[in-house]
Amino acid sequence: MVEVRIRVNGVEEVLDVEPRVSLLDTLREHLGMTGTKKGCDQGACGACTVLADGERINSCLALAVQYDGRSITTIEGIDHPLQEAFVRHDGLQCGYCTPGQICSAIAMLDEHARGAPSAVTEPAATAAPELTGEEIRERMSGNLCRCGAYNGIAEAIAEVAA
Ligand code: FES
Repeated sequence: MVEVRIRVNGVEEVLDVEPRVSLLDTLREHLGMTGTKKGCDQGACGACTVLADGERINSCLALAVQYDGRSITTIEGIDHPLQEAFVRHDGLQCGYCTPGQICSAIAMLDEHARGAPSAVTEPAATAAPELTGEEIRERMSGNLCRCGAYNGIAEAIAEVAA
């Protein structure tokens, strides 16, 4: 067992974890924060996305010990206009992917505001240009939705980004 200190949604947590345990399992099983979902557990679906110091990560691929001293935000710690926008635009059906979608979208909007390039745009020279639907889809392509609510998800993000 290794002692790690991780700030989760603003609360310092001191945990004894095995070095092989993922951040996802630590959140869900050690801390009871089941808002972060386990889909593929292989880094392919994005259901487990959380924010690590504001950057989106797949928590299934992260070991808890790697995040000693870091700050993690999960869906339980988020109160963001995107959440109501997802409801308004039917950006969910079963809702299983939604926590990951929301975390990813928050980070994506921040990346865009900072001028980080996507596969379909060049880095912004000055102010970030308006996000296009194509760019939103490309930047959100790491988050799968098995119900196919992609149109609503993109519309919700576009509304908040505008
Ligand atoms: Fe982590 Fe699918 S559960 S990417």
